[in-house]
Amino acid sequence: MKKPVIAIDGYSSTGKSSISKIIAEKLGIVHLDTGALYRGITWFALQNCVDDNGNIDLQELFKSFHIIKLEFKKVEDELVLYLNHINVSKEIRTAEVSNNVSLIAKQKEVRDFLLETQRSIARNGGVIMDGRDIGTVVLPDADFKFFLTASIDERTKRRYNELLAMGIESDEAEVKENLIARDKIDSEREIAPLKQAEDAILIDNTKMTKSQTIDAILLQITKINTFY
Ligand code: DC
Repeated sequence: MKKPVIAIDGYSSTGKSSISKIIAEKLGIVHLDTGALYRGITWFALQNCVDDNGNIDLQELFKSFHIIKLEFKKVEDELVLYLNHINVSKEIRTAEVSNNVSLIAKQKEVRDFLLETQRSIARNGGVIMDGRDIGTVVLPDADFKFFLTASIDERTKRRYNELLAMGIESDEAEVKENLIARDKIDSEREIAPLKQAEDAILIDNTKMTKSQTIDAILLQITKINTFY
């Protein structure tokens, strides 16, 4: 039986990735965190394409695409991002990457570079992909689309705790500022902006636990019995 293609979009720190990961396990499908791809490119740029003033040199980055190899590999039951054969799963979560990723993600060249990688993973079905433009651009024909949102204070708390759990100390006010700045750039960019697809189901999970959000999504998926 063909397995579903599920698109999960929404604001930063609404739990998209951790929720998608659990749903993937429950449904026996693959989870792809597309934000990790944009973070991987940003990390590469910060390592290799910085000008004398310390700014990312975009032209240099675009010229380097042919030497960038991004892969997801399974490590202890989890898909982790490898960039040119190096596990960068921790590096891509640093504040430096978070502060620069939206500027990288708004470049047409970067989005074009990553589009086919994302689509090819969904070609045979059985995938839940989370990001900002999955339901609108990457997988417009997805079987199910969800759009997650939550209040900025709740999202700040979640991101702060997520960083802490990874051993990364941060300042809560800075975390909030970064989320606001990123949401603004992501929503206002010209190409593939963050927005709810017309046929996506909106879930505001400010007052919901992670498992309540998962149940709400699974309910929608399982009530349509074509797949399960
Ligand atoms: O989900 P995240 O916070 O790890 O995403 C990092 C950045 O990547 C986010 O600021 C926007 C960008 N992004 C995007 O533009 N399109 C996607 N499909 C996924 C992420």
